[in-house]
Amino acid sequence: MRKTLFICSLLSIAFLLNAQSFFNTEKMVETGVYYYPEAWNPNQWDRDFKKMAEMGFEFTHMAEFAWAQMEPTEGNYDFAWLDKAVKLAAKNNLKVIMCTPSATPPVWLVRKYPEVLVQKPDGQLADHGTRAHCSWSSPKYQELLTKLVTAMAKHYGNDKRIWGWQLDNEPSHYGTNDYGTAVQTNFRKWLQIKYKTIENLNNAWGTAFWSGIYTDFNQINIPNAPQLIAGAASQISLVDYKRFSADECAAFLTMQKNTLRESISKTQFVTTNFMSTHTNVDPWRSKDLDFITYTTYPVGGYSKGVGDQGFRMGDYWLISWSNDFFRPLKGMTGVMELQPGQVNWGSYNPLPYPGVIRAWLWNAFAGDLDFICSYRFRQPLFGSEQFHYGMVGTDGITPLFGGLEYSQFMKEIRELRKLYKPNAPMPTEYASRKTAVLYNVDNVWETQVQKQTDLWNEINHITKYYSALKTLCIPVDIVGEDRDLSSYPVVVAPAYQMVDKELVAKWKKYVENGGQLVLSCRTGLKDRNGHFPEAPWANAITELIGAKISMFDLLNKETIANVNFEGNKYSWHSWGDILEPYAGTEIWATFADQFYAGKATVIHRKLGKGTVTYIGTDTDNGKLEKEVLKKVYNSAKITTNEQPEGVMVNWRDGFWVAINYSSVKVNINIPSNANIIFGSKELDIAGVAVWQ
Ligand code: GAL
Repeated sequence: MRKTLFICSLLSIAFLLNAQSFFNTEKMVETGVYYYPEAWNPNQWDRDFKKMAEMGFEFTHMAEFAWAQMEPTEGNYDFAWLDKAVKLAAKNNLKVIMCTPSATPPVWLVRKYPEVLVQKPDGQLADHGTRAHCSWSSPKYQELLTKLVTAMAKHYGNDKRIWGWQLDNEPSHYGTNDYGTAVQTNFRKWLQIKYKTIENLNNAWGTAFWSGIYTDFNQINIPNAPQLIAGAASQISLVDYKRFSADECAAFLTMQKNTLRESISKTQFVTTNFMSTHTNVDPWRSKDLDFITYTTYPVGGYSKGVGDQGFRMGDYWLISWSNDFFRPLKGMTGVMELQPGQVNWGSYNPLPYPGVIRAWLWNAFAGDLDFICSYRFRQPLFGSEQFHYGMVGTDGITPLFGGLEYSQFMKEIRELRKLYKPNAPMPTEYASRKTAVLYNVDNVWETQVQKQTDLWNEINHITKYYSALKTLCIPVDIVGEDRDLSSYPVVVAPAYQMVDKELVAKWKKYVENGGQLVLSCRTGLKDRNGHFPEAPWANAITELIGAKISMFDLLNKETIANVNFEGNKYSWHSWGDILEPYAGTEIWATFADQFYAGKATVIHRKLGKGTVTYIGTDTDNGKLEKEVLKKVYNSAKITTNEQPEGVMVNWRDGFWVAINYSSVKVNINIPSNANIIFGSKELDIAGVAVWQ
């Protein structure tokens, strides 16, 4: 639909400057694959690129970790080898995504300038021989990196074979906190800019608690490891540290982007590849990149999925979540790394279910992505990622099952392009249920610090709502507070703990103008500094939801406790709000047991032209949340199209795509007049159907 809107809304010059202009809309999606020429015999490069092209790939991705090869000694840049690889890629009609190799500086650099290294909490420096071990905040590292990036930009910035740029790799430090002098200094500066005076900081951090008072910004250290886990006097100091780190990461990317932009052509894009569900950094802070992309590995031993084969397919909502989280920022995104097959780093590394890699690809297509890139072309023969499948196996030439599934997908996409109609309107019924999930990473960070129960996990809570929406065949944008909500008939803001008056006023106006707002437990409890207001509990939202939240309860795992909703029981443990509705507020669900049995926990009220629904309980499996959401849409006369758990149906560019992530065959409802392009009404396990 996005593309349709763009085309309808004038093919202006401005169009050429937005994120979409880097892509050929008629291709819908382009597929590529990572290649590390530096790791393979140059005599094989031509063969490898030829094979890539034969398999159906349209672009490749290079140089991500090749700093040592590009700058073998300080200030001496060598692009000759890379030129040869670019030339061979182009010869085989493959565009190139060029990467800045900031994650892996050469050994000479860290030996000569050890101050660039990340310092761990125990004071030990990270060392050469890994990746992401240099400090984003180190001026020396920034200086040397800027020189390299400048040289790369001058060399490749006007080279038509280069499609665009990826900065760094999965910027995040992989969760390691850096305690070096440079970052310490920057943290203090950041706090000084934010708070201006130490009194303001003391007030915001609540340092009257445990004698926490500071008299000077220079007394403040980055929270140490035990403080980060628990034990910090001020939980908001930890949130500030997370905010700062995320800003530092974004600034590091901006610095690289600005350096590139000094020399590269406007037609080359600049992006980076964030991990799809990692919350140590905040992808949305990188608004100044042309767009942001994600990396995802659904099968790494951490997800049970649906049914006995679910562990081979992953969480059915994961790729959709990534699409819907990364796309809204710039109206487009791509997946930069998609799992190619078995990996090496999971708690255990099962074989993906036959067909599921193709299903992931279709899932990425269905999320309106402009490109998909596989990690990686060749299975490595050495290094820490041995056992990690590629598109081709250890012999370098034989496609593995993942490679074959990619080829099948790319063949199918070429078929589909013939049926592409540029202005296919989004089906009205589908468009009319478009829903926004409101998200602010501050709430994730803040509730992580004060969980109140080990069973609380903010992301799990949010994805209970998200996955329910997707099972109801609802198009979703995950958006931030700056977004105009008026075009979404339904807005869901799960566990939105920190609010201010402006946000609550925005919600109220949205509802009064006809929106359906769904809030859940833990919403509106704190201000932006993580303080409770000096007012009745949850005062910020009680008027809006039409109830007082009189108490909340948390249970141990052994307790059997349920919520009653429309004749069914839903078990819960982590959080239950006990509500006292005001006159005019409907009670939708009540507690089935405990000393507050019969009290309300899900309520609903009309306000102006819209409604507010408050779901006070976080249930074990999210089924209550789903049933309540269904009722919200039904009551507002918005249709939904419920699918069996694990089945996803999405629309894009005139095509419906259904995917079965469950462990049984299912029959899906395809209208009798539909033109079924791939698959059938009976969806196999990991099966895909595409129709018009
Ligand atoms: C990603 C990472 C890649 C590679 C891959 C292996 O998270 O960005 O560089 O390590 O995992 O699965």
